[in-house]
Amino acid sequence: MPEINIDDNVDLAQQIRFVSHEIRNHLSVCDMYSQIIKKHLENDGYSNPSVSNALDCIQKSFQIIGMNVNDLKSLNPDNKVVVDFKMCVLRAFELSKAYVEDKDIEFELFVKNTSSIFIDENRFISCVVNIIKNAIEAIEVRGKISVLGEVKSDFAVLKIANNGKQIPLEKQGKIFECGYTSKQRGSGFGLNICKKYLNSQGADLELVKSTKSETVFKIAIPINMD
Ligand SMILES: Nc1ncnc2c1ncn2[C@@H]1O[C@H](COP(=O)(O)OP(=O)(O)O)[C@@H](O)[C@H]1O
Ligand SMILES: [Mg+2]
Repeated sequence: MPEINIDDNVDLAQQIRFVSHEIRNHLSVCDMYSQIIKKHLENDGYSNPSVSNALDCIQKSFQIIGMNVNDLKSLNPDNKVVVDFKMCVLRAFELSKAYVEDKDIEFELFVKNTSSIFIDENRFISCVVNIIKNAIEAIEVRGKISVLGEVKSDFAVLKIANNGKQIPLEKQGKIFECGYTSKQRGSGFGLNICKKYLNSQGADLELVKSTKSETVFKIAIPINMD
């Protein structure tokens, strides 16, 4: 194992700054050009909900990547704002469909009612995307994913269910551990990061159940604004 000294760390820090700077530059280019495309389409009177949705998803993804790049530099404090629960869920739902590839997945989305929540919008969306992406990955070829939202007295609750493969009983206690993955090309970071972030907001993420017929995750966000 190579010896680690302070100089190595300085080089690593320098490298992180350099790479983040380059990513940011090119993100700005992509962001700017996607805005230009949107403007041109509007000016030309071209209206296609699927294209506008795709452009909105691209722009939201740029913001999320930008936030993560800032995290690399530890510059990014929580950016909590008052946002609408349902709007965040809709955005996350659209973003996650990018992971479907050639599977045959029926998506159901139902948000019964809504409320303002005080949270970092991009981080929250990124958590929901992580969970829906896992649900997509759990379905081998064909299946169904349901995303159900409801505001109860003190919490906005989001349940994400799929009928893909079951999480074995003996693994159910491990899935939130950093680095636990059952996938060949997984990282095992997704659920760990989501839970840490949500817990830091007084919110919670839990596995409600995973049986042969259904796996359900639940997020509960306090809506008490004090
Ligand atoms: N909806 C799900 N259905 C089945 N297994 C799941 C689901 N969500 C998470 N898991 C299990 O939890 C593990 C950890 O998930 P995650 O932290 O997102 O890491 P990764 O997706 O990189 O494996 C997955 O590898 C999988 O075994
Ligand atoms: Mg994952």
